[in-house]
Amino acid sequence: MRGLLSVSLVVAGLAGNVLSHRVKHSPVKRRKSLGFGPEHPHAVFHSSPYQIQTNGFLPMGADADPIEVAHRFVKDILGTKLTREMSYKIRKDSYTDVNTGVTHVYVRQVVNGLEVVDGDININIKDGMVLSYGSSFYDGDIPKYIAHVDTELMVDPHQHYCDILSEELRLRVQPYGDQVPLGDARAAHHDALTDAHSHNCASLRESTSFGSDDMYDFRSALLQFMVAATPKDEVAQDILANYEKHMDNMDLEPVTGHFAPNDSPADFLVSNVPDAVNPVKVKLAYIQLPSKESATTHLAAVWKFEVEMQDNWYEAAVSVVAPHRIISVVDWASDAPIPEDPEPVEPASYNVFTWGVNDPSVANRTMNKENFDVLASPAGWHAVPYANDPSLRGVRPSKKKGFWRNTTTTWGNNVFAQENWEGQNAYIDNYRPDAGKAKVFDYKYDPKVTNSTDAQEEAQKYINNTVAQLFYTTNMVHDFYYRYGFDEVSGNFQQYNFGRGGAENDAVIANAQDGSGYNNANFMTPPDGQNGRMRMYLWNTAIPYRDGDLEAGIVIHELSHGLSTRLTGGPANSGCLGWGESGGMGEGWGDFLATTIRSTSNYSDYAMGAWAANQAHGIRNYVYSLNETVNPSTYKTLDKPGYWGVHAIGEVWAEILWVVSQRLIKKHGYSDNLFPPEPLADGTVPTGDFYRPSAGKQPRVPKHGNTLSIQLVLNAMKLQTCRPSFFDARDAIIQADQVLTGGENFCTLWEGFASRGLGPDAKVEGRTPWGGGIRTNGFSLPLACQ
Ligand SMILES: *[C@@H]1O[C@H](CO)[C@@H](O)[C@H](O)[C@H]1NC(C)=O
Ligand SMILES: *[C@@H]1O[C@H](CO)[C@@H](O)[C@H](O)[C@H]1NC(C)=O
Ligand SMILES: *[C@@H]1O[C@H](CO)[C@@H](O)[C@H](O)[C@H]1NC(C)=O
Ligand SMILES: *[C@@H]1O[C@H](CO)[C@@H](O)[C@H](O)[C@H]1NC(C)=O
Ligand SMILES: *[C@@H]1O[C@H](CO)[C@@H](O)[C@H](O)[C@H]1NC(C)=O
Ligand SMILES: *[C@@H]1O[C@H](CO)[C@@H](O)[C@H](O)[C@H]1NC(C)=O
Repeated sequence: MRGLLSVSLVVAGLAGNVLSHRVKHSPVKRRKSLGFGPEHPHAVFHSSPYQIQTNGFLPMGADADPIEVAHRFVKDILGTKLTREMSYKIRKDSYTDVNTGVTHVYVRQVVNGLEVVDGDININIKDGMVLSYGSSFYDGDIPKYIAHVDTELMVDPHQHYCDILSEELRLRVQPYGDQVPLGDARAAHHDALTDAHSHNCASLRESTSFGSDDMYDFRSALLQFMVAATPKDEVAQDILANYEKHMDNMDLEPVTGHFAPNDSPADFLVSNVPDAVNPVKVKLAYIQLPSKESATTHLAAVWKFEVEMQDNWYEAAVSVVAPHRIISVVDWASDAPIPEDPEPVEPASYNVFTWGVNDPSVANRTMNKENFDVLASPAGWHAVPYANDPSLRGVRPSKKKGFWRNTTTTWGNNVFAQENWEGQNAYIDNYRPDAGKAKVFDYKYDPKVTNSTDAQEEAQKYINNTVAQLFYTTNMVHDFYYRYGFDEVSGNFQQYNFGRGGAENDAVIANAQDGSGYNNANFMTPPDGQNGRMRMYLWNTAIPYRDGDLEAGIVIHELSHGLSTRLTGGPANSGCLGWGESGGMGEGWGDFLATTIRSTSNYSDYAMGAWAANQAHGIRNYVYSLNETVNPSTYKTLDKPGYWGVHAIGEVWAEILWVVSQRLIKKHGYSDNLFPPEPLADGTVPTGDFYRPSAGKQPRVPKHGNTLSIQLVLNAMKLQTCRPSFFDARDAIIQADQVLTGGENFCTLWEGFASRGLGPDAKVEGRTPWGGGIRTNGFSLPLACQ
């Protein structure tokens, strides 16, 4: 669920010495976007064993049913708060990640027999152990107004619901009543509601229609939601013009065993709802609303609608007492209509510096085909659904043109790439090359030596090539990270999610030769469901100017900010890598991944950004090297003057990761190809030479040291806590190896970390909330490895 009220943005620049400009979030008006809900100030995420065991929870047997573990754990953390009035249920969409074997259990809160639609706990469980958990359970006072609850809950659930509604109306109608001007029909309905005590709940017990004063009458709320939800203007107009008629047309079907709290998906099915393609499911529920006076929430009763439409499938919560008030909406990507089987499309091709070539000094351009990784980009790189295309600005094509809008430009489901010479926020109408039907992006790149006045103009002459390169690299990175687990549910960047979960409409906006700066690059990562924005700059470090778009290492570094920010602390939390050691590691992962991608089986040291910066040692203090004379960075280096900034800190982290990964390469060998094999027609991924042969339900383990390093680094991002320290991130990598291989690299990893001072005896003392402190290198190994 996306937060309506605040957007946490992280802007991360490539280098510390250049200003990065904070820009306001995109003012672009997209299609009528329904996806918002209240905030949860009390929500937590815990990933350390101490926090997990704080109430005495102990791991269960390795064979324990993860669902059973989850039950025990929830009972443990909720303790005496669990009562007859406040309970929970384990949701059916809980699942086990096929690759890591971690079971993700989702728990829904139940109060007074009603679901709390935003009361959720997620628990990561493996082998009977809770690895981490988060919670947004409502923890305030439980409304105790229902006499029946104290005696015999659910003896007459119908009466029980009626009591809840009466109380809700008594409590809340007045405060909302005066605020919103209502249309005639709605005003009449509202007036009827305000006289709550005269209402009856009885008429629906056996009948399928409403009495004029029935409190269960959610029809007005539903119609008003449809006005907001329909993409078709004429439907919205018709609902408003013929409000009473639409009210009367709706057919209700009480669900068998309705008013059976907890289990039934709906209390009612409603047909003849304009623009819905199937009967709408309706259920009475609670939602948490932020309290004005403090950082807490209170519960309000809502109608929960599940509305299946042509291109959307919404879960909406609309106020019971103020039916014009949509409190939250989630577009269920996982239930969105699945598009027709993609027909074979001729892949596009690009004359670019190919994957693995870091920059123009390494190799010349070659022709490359659109990747078409059927897992990562099932529709290819040049298609985006009409419904998710911001260039249509909410306007549907007049006649039905099908699901996909196919493009011949650098505009697709994973990335919108364009020039941004003006350096502004608008991007939709910016220039991007159109390669025509054949989609051959083959453009001139032949910058001439000019005087400095003309250097910029000279760079602009090859903008076609630049944008094509940026599009190619960004798509490759999308597909690459996807195959290591940065997918829809974990918060990747896509306009459309193929019904595979996660929040949509968040492709990367990639601006080439951005006019807002020089000699740098940056990336903004809002929470899942909002576009990431990457700005690449020209570098005036040489003539001709050097173009950051053409240096893959810089582009990969920037895109890795999106990766680490979305994976750390969850897709919807962009505030976990803001500053200090965690902010530094946010820089370090990008350097490490970029360097790993460019490396070959012949070991070499590498600099970061050397070509763009036109200096051999690049833009960091040291090149990444195994040689301690060449790169002497250790954990203790963080204490040195000049290491307070995130880039210097990141350099230390990247160096440590580089050293660790080289140890894994020494142990497991090297794979020239970093891409896992294509899946077979039945969706299974063959092991090829990439994964170890795996038995049964074992996780897929990359065979070689370099691919294993990448997998461990990504898996650790998913496990680690919000705002991790070097110790936390190190421990998460060791836990990721435990999860993936059973810990067979435990000592190899510790040897790598310890060689740069991050052994178990490393410590930091005197740290304050603002950082600082004195670090001590730890070079020893855990007892088991000595
Ligand atoms: C448009 O793209 C979709 C998704 O890749 C594909 O299935 C379809 O065949 C394409 N249509 C055309 C006309 O190329
Ligand atoms: C690119 O091609 C030219 C001409 O064939 C050659 O002289 C040059 O060395 C090549 N550059 C690289 C980096 O391979
Ligand atoms: C740069 O070169 C252009 C064209 O060659 C010329 O018109 C211009 O005067 C030169 N500017 C300077 C500052 O030398
Ligand atoms: C970019 O390519 C188009 C053809 O697709 C061409 O018309 C245009 O002149 C090119 N732009 C530049 C600056 O070369
Ligand atoms: C590694 O070095 C060897 C010997 O110099 C060379 O033959 C080989 O092509 C190199 N491999 C790569 C991937 O650069
Ligand atoms: C490490 O680098 C230094 C300085 O370049 C060099 O003298 C030394 O031989 C290198 N050590 C190894 C083991 O390569």
